[in-house]
Amino acid sequence: MNDGTGLGERKRILTGIRPTGALHLGHYGGALENWVRLQHEYECFFLIADYQVSDYAEDITRVREAVWDVTLDWLAVGLDPRNSHFVIESLVPEHAELTLWLEWATPMGWLERNPTLKAELAGLEARGSVPVAFFTYPVMQVCNILMPKAHLVPVGEDQLPHIEMTREVARRFNRLYGEVFIEPQGLVGRIPRLVGTDGDAKMSKSRNNAIFLKDDAATVTEKVRRMYTDPNRLRATDPGRVEGNPVFMYHDAFNPDVEEVNDLKERYRAGKVGDVEVKQKLARALNVMLDPIRERRAYYESRPDEVRDALATGAGAMKPVAAQTMAEVREALKLNYLERP
Ligand code: TRP
Repeated sequence: MNDGTGLGERKRILTGIRPTGALHLGHYGGALENWVRLQHEYECFFLIADYQVSDYAEDITRVREAVWDVTLDWLAVGLDPRNSHFVIESLVPEHAELTLWLEWATPMGWLERNPTLKAELAGLEARGSVPVAFFTYPVMQVCNILMPKAHLVPVGEDQLPHIEMTREVARRFNRLYGEVFIEPQGLVGRIPRLVGTDGDAKMSKSRNNAIFLKDDAATVTEKVRRMYTDPNRLRATDPGRVEGNPVFMYHDAFNPDVEEVNDLKERYRAGKVGDVEVKQKLARALNVMLDPIRERRAYYESRPDEVRDALATGAGAMKPVAAQTMAEVREALKLNYLERP
Protein backbone atom coordinates (compact mmCIF):
# COMPACT_ATOMS: atom_id res chain seq x y z
CA MET A 1 0.00 0.00 0.00
CA ASN A 2 1.38 3.38 -0.93
CA ASP A 3 0.20 6.46 0.90
CA GLY A 4 2.44 8.93 -0.87
CA THR A 5 4.91 9.22 1.99
CA GLY A 6 7.45 6.97 0.32
CA LEU A 7 7.44 4.79 3.42
CA GLY A 8 4.65 2.54 2.23
CA GLU A 9 6.68 -0.65 1.84
CA ARG A 10 7.39 -1.11 5.51
CA LYS A 11 4.88 -2.80 7.77
CA ARG A 12 3.07 -0.44 10.06
CA ILE A 13 3.00 0.25 13.75
CA LEU A 14 0.35 2.32 15.40
CA THR A 15 0.60 2.94 19.08
CA GLY A 16 -0.23 5.78 21.39
CA ILE A 17 -0.56 7.38 24.76
CA ARG A 18 -3.32 9.35 26.42
CA PRO A 19 -2.09 12.87 27.22
CA THR A 20 -2.51 12.98 30.99
CA GLY A 21 0.99 14.09 31.98
CA ALA A 22 4.70 13.47 31.68
CA LEU A 23 5.94 9.92 31.06
CA HIS A 24 7.75 7.75 33.59
CA LEU A 25 10.00 4.69 33.87
CA GLY A 26 6.97 2.40 33.60
CA HIS A 27 6.17 3.78 30.16
CA TYR A 28 9.82 3.45 29.22
CA GLY A 29 10.38 -0.21 30.12
CA GLY A 30 6.87 -1.26 29.10
CA ALA A 31 6.62 0.41 25.73
CA LEU A 32 8.85 3.34 24.71
CA GLU A 33 12.02 1.23 24.56
CA ASN A 34 10.29 -0.99 22.01
CA TRP A 35 9.13 1.99 20.02
CA VAL A 36 12.66 3.38 19.79
CA ARG A 37 13.98 -0.01 18.74
CA LEU A 38 11.29 -0.66 16.11
CA GLN A 39 11.01 2.81 14.59
CA HIS A 40 13.39 2.08 11.72
CA GLU A 41 12.00 -1.34 10.92
CA TYR A 42 8.35 -0.25 10.68
CA GLU A 43 6.51 2.80 9.45
CA CYS A 44 5.34 4.16 12.79
CA PHE A 45 2.39 6.27 13.78
CA PHE A 46 2.73 7.50 17.36
CA LEU A 47 -0.60 8.86 18.49
CA ILE A 48 -1.39 11.38 21.20
CA ALA A 49 -4.92 10.33 22.05
CA ASP A 50 -6.48 13.61 23.11
CA TYR A 51 -10.02 12.46 22.24
CA GLN A 52 -9.58 9.78 24.90
CA VAL A 53 -8.99 11.83 28.03
CA SER A 54 -12.61 12.65 28.82
CA ASP A 55 -11.74 11.82 32.44
CA TYR A 56 -9.95 15.20 32.32
CA ALA A 57 -13.00 17.01 30.90
CA GLU A 58 -12.85 19.54 33.70
CA ASP A 59 -9.15 20.22 33.23
CA ILE A 60 -8.53 21.03 29.57
CA THR A 61 -5.46 23.10 30.46
CA ARG A 62 -3.82 20.01 31.84
CA VAL A 63 -4.56 18.10 28.64
CA ARG A 64 -2.94 20.86 26.61
CA GLU A 65 0.17 20.78 28.79
CA ALA A 66 0.28 17.00 28.67
CA VAL A 67 0.20 16.95 24.85
CA TRP A 68 3.35 19.05 24.97
CA ASP A 69 4.96 16.96 27.73
CA VAL A 70 4.33 13.70 25.90
CA THR A 71 5.75 15.09 22.66
CA LEU A 72 8.90 16.28 24.43
CA ASP A 73 9.29 12.95 26.20
CA TRP A 74 9.00 11.10 22.89
CA LEU A 75 11.65 13.28 21.31
CA ALA A 76 13.76 12.92 24.45
CA VAL A 77 13.81 9.11 24.39
CA GLY A 78 14.92 9.22 20.77
CA LEU A 79 11.83 8.82 18.63
CA ASP A 80 12.66 10.51 15.36
CA PRO A 81 9.83 12.53 13.80
CA ARG A 82 11.66 12.68 10.47
CA ASN A 83 11.25 8.95 10.23
CA SER A 84 7.98 8.38 12.14
CA HIS A 85 4.71 10.25 12.40
CA PHE A 86 3.70 11.98 15.63
CA VAL A 87 -0.07 12.38 15.36
CA ILE A 88 -2.36 14.40 17.61
CA GLU A 89 -5.58 12.45 17.29
CA SER A 90 -8.02 15.37 17.09
CA LEU A 91 -6.09 16.96 14.22
CA VAL A 92 -7.42 14.06 12.14
CA PRO A 93 -11.18 14.15 12.84
CA GLU A 94 -11.75 11.04 10.71
CA HIS A 95 -10.96 9.25 13.97
CA ALA A 96 -14.28 10.44 15.36
CA GLU A 97 -16.20 9.29 12.32
CA LEU A 98 -14.57 5.88 12.05
CA THR A 99 -15.12 5.28 15.76
CA LEU A 100 -18.82 5.76 15.26
CA TRP A 101 -19.00 3.23 12.42
CA LEU A 102 -16.91 0.76 14.40
CA GLU A 103 -19.36 1.10 17.27
CA TRP A 104 -21.85 -0.53 14.92
CA ALA A 105 -19.64 -3.61 14.98
CA THR A 106 -18.99 -3.57 18.73
CA PRO A 107 -21.49 -5.32 21.01
CA MET A 108 -22.00 -3.56 24.38
CA GLY A 109 -20.90 -6.70 26.17
CA TRP A 110 -17.37 -6.43 24.77
CA LEU A 111 -16.97 -3.11 26.57
CA GLU A 112 -18.79 -4.25 29.69
CA ARG A 113 -16.45 -7.19 30.21
CA ASN A 114 -13.18 -5.46 29.19
CA PRO A 115 -11.01 -5.85 32.33
CA THR A 116 -8.87 -2.74 31.80
CA LEU A 117 -11.91 -0.56 31.21
CA LYS A 118 -13.71 -2.13 34.19
CA ALA A 119 -10.86 -1.27 36.55
CA GLU A 120 -10.61 2.30 35.22
CA LEU A 121 -14.37 2.84 35.49
CA ALA A 122 -14.37 1.62 39.08
CA GLY A 123 -11.66 4.17 39.91
CA LEU A 124 -13.53 7.02 38.19
CA GLU A 125 -16.91 6.14 39.67
CA ALA A 126 -15.37 6.38 43.13
CA ARG A 127 -14.42 9.98 42.30
CA GLY A 128 -17.62 11.15 40.61
CA SER A 129 -19.54 10.84 37.35
CA VAL A 130 -18.07 9.16 34.29
CA PRO A 131 -18.42 10.76 30.83
CA VAL A 132 -20.07 8.56 28.19
CA ALA A 133 -16.95 9.11 26.04
CA PHE A 134 -14.87 7.33 28.65
CA PHE A 135 -16.99 4.20 28.45
CA THR A 136 -16.50 4.03 24.68
CA TYR A 137 -12.82 5.07 24.48
CA PRO A 138 -11.62 1.50 23.81
CA VAL A 139 -13.57 1.59 20.53
CA MET A 140 -11.71 4.76 19.63
CA GLN A 141 -8.47 2.98 20.39
CA VAL A 142 -9.65 0.18 18.08
CA CYS A 143 -10.25 2.87 15.47
CA ASN A 144 -6.75 4.32 15.99
CA ILE A 145 -5.19 0.95 15.27
CA LEU A 146 -7.43 0.05 12.31
CA MET A 147 -7.24 3.48 10.63
CA PRO A 148 -3.69 2.96 9.23
CA LYS A 149 -4.19 -0.85 9.14
CA ALA A 150 -1.36 -1.35 11.60
CA HIS A 151 0.27 -4.77 11.80
CA LEU A 152 1.87 -4.32 15.20
CA VAL A 153 0.85 -2.45 18.36
CA PRO A 154 3.64 -2.20 20.96
CA VAL A 155 2.06 -1.30 24.31
CA GLY A 156 2.10 -1.89 28.05
CA GLU A 157 0.52 -5.08 29.34
CA ASP A 158 -2.68 -3.35 30.51
CA GLN A 159 -3.53 -2.51 26.88
CA LEU A 160 -3.74 -6.11 25.65
CA PRO A 161 -7.53 -6.42 26.18
CA HIS A 162 -7.98 -3.43 23.86
CA ILE A 163 -5.85 -5.09 21.19
CA GLU A 164 -7.78 -8.33 21.51
CA MET A 165 -10.95 -6.27 21.06
CA THR A 166 -9.42 -4.62 17.99
CA ARG A 167 -9.00 -8.03 16.39
CA GLU A 168 -12.57 -8.95 17.23
CA VAL A 169 -14.04 -5.71 15.90
CA ALA A 170 -11.99 -5.97 12.69
CA ARG A 171 -13.21 -9.51 12.17
CA ARG A 172 -16.83 -8.59 12.82
CA PHE A 173 -16.75 -5.49 10.61
CA ASN A 174 -15.17 -7.48 7.77
CA ARG A 175 -17.78 -10.20 8.12
CA LEU A 176 -20.71 -7.75 8.17
CA TYR A 177 -19.57 -5.33 5.46
CA GLY A 178 -16.63 -6.77 3.52
CA GLU A 179 -12.86 -7.13 3.96
CA VAL A 180 -11.51 -3.73 4.92
CA PHE A 181 -9.37 -4.23 8.01
CA ILE A 182 -6.48 -6.45 9.07
CA GLU A 183 -6.05 -7.99 12.52
CA PRO A 184 -3.06 -6.52 14.38
CA GLN A 185 -0.69 -8.15 16.85
CA GLY A 186 0.12 -6.71 20.28
CA LEU A 187 3.67 -6.54 21.62
CA VAL A 188 4.53 -5.99 25.28
CA GLY A 189 7.91 -4.57 26.33
CA ARG A 190 10.74 -5.98 28.41
CA ILE A 191 9.15 -4.84 31.69
CA PRO A 192 5.43 -5.55 31.29
CA ARG A 193 4.52 -3.92 34.59
CA LEU A 194 6.82 -1.84 36.77
CA VAL A 195 6.14 -1.55 40.50
CA GLY A 196 5.87 1.92 41.99
CA THR A 197 8.55 3.44 44.22
CA ASP A 198 6.18 2.71 47.12
CA GLY A 199 6.07 -1.00 46.30
CA ASP A 200 2.55 -0.68 44.93
CA ALA A 201 1.71 -2.98 42.01
CA LYS A 202 2.00 -0.34 39.32
CA MET A 203 3.94 2.86 38.76
CA SER A 204 1.49 5.63 37.97
CA LYS A 205 1.37 9.38 38.13
CA SER A 206 -1.95 9.38 39.98
CA ARG A 207 -0.55 7.15 42.73
CA ASN A 208 2.36 9.48 43.25
CA ASN A 209 4.89 6.66 43.02
CA ALA A 210 6.53 7.47 39.70
CA ILE A 211 10.00 8.44 38.56
CA PHE A 212 9.55 10.67 35.54
CA LEU A 213 11.84 10.72 32.53
CA LYS A 214 12.12 14.46 33.00
CA ASP A 215 12.99 14.35 36.71
CA ASP A 216 16.41 15.89 37.36
CA ALA A 217 19.21 13.87 38.93
CA ALA A 218 18.64 15.19 42.47
CA THR A 219 14.93 14.37 42.30
CA VAL A 220 15.64 10.83 41.09
CA THR A 221 18.19 10.31 43.85
CA GLU A 222 15.73 11.54 46.47
CA LYS A 223 12.88 9.36 45.12
CA VAL A 224 15.18 6.34 45.19
CA ARG A 225 16.36 7.19 48.71
CA ARG A 226 12.75 7.04 49.89
CA MET A 227 11.88 3.87 48.01
CA TYR A 228 10.15 1.00 49.72
CA THR A 229 12.47 -1.99 50.28
CA ASP A 230 12.38 -5.08 52.47
CA PRO A 231 10.20 -3.91 55.38
CA ASN A 232 11.53 -6.63 57.72
CA ARG A 233 15.11 -5.50 57.45
CA LEU A 234 16.04 -3.11 60.23
CA ARG A 235 19.86 -3.18 60.14
CA ALA A 236 22.40 -3.58 57.33
CA THR A 237 23.53 -6.77 59.05
CA ASP A 238 20.05 -8.39 58.80
CA PRO A 239 19.76 -10.80 55.85
CA GLY A 240 17.47 -9.08 53.32
CA ARG A 241 14.95 -10.21 50.75
CA VAL A 242 15.82 -9.55 47.12
CA GLU A 243 12.74 -11.17 45.56
CA GLY A 244 9.81 -8.79 45.38
CA ASN A 245 12.01 -5.93 46.59
CA PRO A 246 11.28 -2.90 44.36
CA VAL A 247 14.84 -1.57 44.62
CA PHE A 248 16.21 -4.81 43.18
CA MET A 249 13.42 -4.97 40.59
CA TYR A 250 14.59 -1.58 39.33
CA HIS A 251 18.21 -2.74 39.39
CA ASP A 252 17.21 -5.75 37.28
CA ALA A 253 15.19 -3.58 34.95
CA PHE A 254 17.51 -0.62 34.43
CA ASN A 255 21.04 -1.26 35.74
CA PRO A 256 23.07 -2.68 32.84
CA ASP A 257 25.97 -3.63 35.16
CA VAL A 258 24.81 -7.20 35.85
CA GLU A 259 27.91 -8.01 37.89
CA GLU A 260 27.30 -5.10 40.22
CA VAL A 261 23.66 -6.13 40.63
CA ASN A 262 24.55 -9.76 41.37
CA ASP A 263 27.17 -8.67 43.90
CA LEU A 264 24.65 -6.40 45.63
CA LYS A 265 22.07 -9.19 45.74
CA GLU A 266 24.52 -11.64 47.27
CA ARG A 267 25.62 -9.18 49.93
CA TYR A 268 22.03 -8.09 50.62
CA ARG A 269 20.92 -11.68 51.22
CA ALA A 270 23.91 -12.21 53.51
CA GLY A 271 23.36 -9.00 55.48
CA LYS A 272 26.59 -7.49 54.18
CA VAL A 273 25.39 -4.33 52.51
CA GLY A 274 23.16 -1.49 53.64
CA ASP A 275 20.07 -0.24 51.83
CA VAL A 276 21.85 3.08 51.41
CA GLU A 277 24.55 1.65 49.15
CA VAL A 278 22.07 -0.42 47.13
CA LYS A 279 19.98 2.71 46.57
CA GLN A 280 22.94 4.93 45.75
CA LYS A 281 24.01 2.50 43.05
CA LEU A 282 20.46 2.36 41.68
CA ALA A 283 20.18 6.15 41.60
CA ARG A 284 23.48 6.34 39.75
CA ALA A 285 22.43 3.75 37.16
CA LEU A 286 19.10 5.51 36.59
CA ASN A 287 20.76 8.87 36.21
CA VAL A 288 23.29 7.50 33.72
CA MET A 289 20.38 6.11 31.70
CA LEU A 290 18.32 9.30 31.97
CA ASP A 291 21.09 11.81 31.24
CA PRO A 292 21.00 11.61 27.43
CA ILE A 293 17.18 11.67 27.62
CA ARG A 294 17.32 14.87 29.69
CA GLU A 295 19.78 16.42 27.25
CA ARG A 296 17.59 15.75 24.23
CA ARG A 297 14.57 17.09 26.14
CA ALA A 298 16.40 20.31 26.94
CA TYR A 299 17.42 20.63 23.29
CA TYR A 300 13.81 20.49 22.10
CA GLU A 301 12.44 22.56 24.97
CA SER A 302 14.53 25.43 23.68
CA ARG A 303 13.31 24.83 20.10
CA PRO A 304 9.50 24.81 20.31
CA ASP A 305 9.15 25.49 16.58
CA GLU A 306 10.82 22.16 15.80
CA VAL A 307 8.40 20.43 18.14
CA ARG A 308 5.38 22.07 16.52
CA ASP A 309 6.77 21.16 13.10
CA ALA A 310 7.00 17.52 14.11
CA LEU A 311 3.36 17.57 15.21
CA ALA A 312 2.19 19.33 12.06
CA THR A 313 4.09 16.97 9.76
CA GLY A 314 2.83 13.90 11.61
CA ALA A 315 -0.82 14.90 11.36
CA GLY A 316 -0.21 15.79 7.71
CA ALA A 317 1.07 12.28 7.03
CA MET A 318 -1.93 10.66 8.74
CA LYS A 319 -4.52 12.63 6.76
CA PRO A 320 -4.16 10.84 3.39
CA VAL A 321 -3.98 7.50 5.19
CA ALA A 322 -7.23 8.30 7.02
CA ALA A 323 -8.89 9.52 3.83
CA GLN A 324 -8.01 6.27 2.07
CA THR A 325 -9.38 4.08 4.86
CA MET A 326 -12.54 6.17 5.14
CA ALA A 327 -13.14 5.83 1.41
CA GLU A 328 -12.99 2.05 1.79
CA VAL A 329 -15.25 2.13 4.85
CA ARG A 330 -17.84 4.30 3.10
CA GLU A 331 -17.88 1.98 0.16
CA ALA A 332 -18.23 -1.10 2.37
CA LEU A 333 -21.13 0.54 4.22
CA LYS A 334 -22.74 1.60 0.92
CA LEU A 335 -22.94 5.24 1.94
CA ASN A 336 -23.03 6.43 -1.66
CA TYR A 337 -26.72 7.40 -1.34
CA LEU A 338 -26.60 10.22 -3.86
CA GLU A 339 -24.92 8.36 -6.67
CA ARG A 340 -27.13 7.19 -9.53
CA PRO A 341 -27.55 3.39 -9.52
N1 TRP B 1 -5.20 3.67 25.81
C1 TRP B 1 -3.79 3.83 25.65
C2 TRP B 1 -3.20 4.19 27.04
O1 TRP B 1 -3.94 4.52 27.93
C3 TRP B 1 -3.43 4.94 24.71
C4 TRP B 1 -3.86 4.66 23.29
C5 TRP B 1 -4.82 5.33 22.59
C6 TRP B 1 -3.35 3.66 22.41
N2 TRP B 1 -4.94 4.85 21.33
C7 TRP B 1 -4.05 3.82 21.20
C8 TRP B 1 -2.39 2.65 22.54
C9 TRP B 1 -3.82 2.97 20.11
C10 TRP B 1 -2.17 1.81 21.45
C11 TRP B 1 -2.88 1.98 20.25
O2 TRP B 1 -2.00 4.16 27.19
